[in-house]
Amino acid sequence: DELTRVERFDALVAAEEKVEPADWMPEAYRKGLIRQIAQHAHSEIIGMQPEGSWITRAPSLKRKAILLAKVQDEAGHGLYLYAAAETLGITRDELVDALLTKRQKYSSIFNYPTLSWADIGAIGWLVDGAAIVNQVPLCRCSYGPYARAMVRICKEESFHQRQGYELLHTLAHGTAAQHAMAQDALDRWWYPSLAMFGPPDAESTHSARSIQWKIKRFSNDELRQRFVDMCVPQAAVLGLRIPDDGLRWNPDRGAHDFTPPDFDELTRVINGDGPCNAERMAHRRAAHDDGAWVREAAAAYARKQAR
Ligand code: 3HC
Repeated sequence: DELTRVERFDALVAAEEKVEPADWMPEAYRKGLIRQIAQHAHSEIIGMQPEGSWITRAPSLKRKAILLAKVQDEAGHGLYLYAAAETLGITRDELVDALLTKRQKYSSIFNYPTLSWADIGAIGWLVDGAAIVNQVPLCRCSYGPYARAMVRICKEESFHQRQGYELLHTLAHGTAAQHAMAQDALDRWWYPSLAMFGPPDAESTHSARSIQWKIKRFSNDELRQRFVDMCVPQAAVLGLRIPDDGLRWNPDRGAHDFTPPDFDELTRVINGDGPCNAERMAHRRAAHDDGAWVREAAAAYARKQAR
């Protein structure tokens, strides 16, 4: 009966076992996971745009090949995560439609413009670096298909982060103009990267339950702090200054004190008022419409096979 099903589910989660698609699960657990996995997938798909716009402008064949590989990886991460979401009973068409009709979100970070080649390095170092800090704990998520998808994705994310960091290191140790370009990119991407981790814990609507169900393993602020502590020595090696006068090591906390991102800006960007929201959605819709013939052909072919 209902009680034993809930007790069995809670015992399975408490025992650090995995919930699998065929297992009974609370409706709120299923809906919450569809929400998070779908928006994670949407982020990967939209995330191809800021970097994709520099593939034709990469400064060398080597950099072009690396960036092409990374953007293709992001597409794969999106499709991988859509497949994980589908195990919870939502279809690909419903997922795609939820993004196009803005009923579901994608990460705020992709609503910022990539103004110079150094931005490609800053995205790899900071945005993929933040993604790793957020995604490594998700490898231990209680929902099996999501946790397993994260293992594969984290491996590729490490390549994304290293190539961005190496790109920035080359610029930061290049000419004065190249160093200035790298510093300008850090200045513009630092706070939006901190905001990627979400609202402060006190304003997080899902954290308490997500942590109870072992989907989220650490709070938004805990992961944000971990990210800052990771970036400080990395910025020192780059010879770049993190744009925060309040940044300092706090021996009592064993962590860096830092100025938080502008959470009002995060709310505005999430609600559609970021620098590139309209452009990103228009581009996505155009790509979807341009691809209609492929979907129709595939469906016609599938019908023929089914006869
Ligand atoms: N951008 C957009 N929306 C955000 C956000 C952000 N940076 N941070 C929080 N939100 C939204 C949440 O989705 C939620 O809205 P909803 O109820 O409509 O879904 C609301 O703000 C309240 O936030 P909560 O903290 O309560 O939400 P969560 O518990 O879901 O925590 C999260 C937010 C940490 C992003 C969590 O959803 C998560 O870990 N998601 C998986 C990771 C992910 O989506 N990463 C996207 C980054 S891009 C990426 O990884 C691609 C890589 O290749 C760079």
